[in-house]
Amino acid sequence: MSASTIRLATEGDAEELMEVCKKSFFDTFTGTCTELDMQTYLSKTFPLKRIIDEINDQHCWLFVLVQARKIGGYIKIGRHLIAEMKERKALEIERLYLLHECIGKGNGNALMQKCFEIAGQEKVEVIYLGVWEHNYRAQKFYSKFGFEVFGQHPFPIESTPQTDLWLKKELTL
Ligand SMILES: CC(C)(COP(=O)(O)OP(=O)(O)OC[C@H]1O[C@@H](n2cnc3c(N)ncnc32)[C@H](O)[C@@H]1OP(=O)(O)O)[C@@H](O)C(=O)NCCC(=O)NCCS
Repeated sequence: MSASTIRLATEGDAEELMEVCKKSFFDTFTGTCTELDMQTYLSKTFPLKRIIDEINDQHCWLFVLVQARKIGGYIKIGRHLIAEMKERKALEIERLYLLHECIGKGNGNALMQKCFEIAGQEKVEVIYLGVWEHNYRAQKFYSKFGFEVFGQHPFPIESTPQTDLWLKKELTL
């Protein structure tokens, strides 16, 4: 299998990235809500225009992982801070998703290293993220990097109530 590379997303990636966003979210959460809720959430959350806006947003970083010329996953890192982080120099991992065939090969680690690189450049003190309370594989992945629970919040998929844990990793400057 060819090696993967990570680069900032460009507008030319938008359509393919939109499909990867939808597929990876669907594969992760299918069965945890109704099919109608899932389809409504996907079309509301990942319209092409929003993906293009996110790619061009100067306040966030959207990196794609490319393998054999195809996007296999992505990380979106942002600065839109929740109340608990308002007093901190912080970044949020807003989304980190791989397609099934790219999981378990070190690609998640590679995207996380990119986040640490940005955190170093931006001199942030803390990185935080939300993860579904029953997404145990992702929680194990984050704990490997030293992320710890500091709270929780509702994250409904349309009419299906769900709870996300807030995780954070303090960085030593
Ligand atoms: C969360 C997610 C990004 C983590 O990615 P991942 O590929 O599972 O994580 P890693 O990069 O750490 O790789 C996992 C394993 O592959 C192993 N591996 C296999 N081949 C490897 C290689 N060539 N290089 C490095 N590691 C390799 C790693 O050692 C690691 O094993 P370990 O956990 O025992 O250390 C991924 O599981 C995912 O996209 N899940 C679905 C979406 C999701 O839940 N996102 C989170 C929402 S909050």
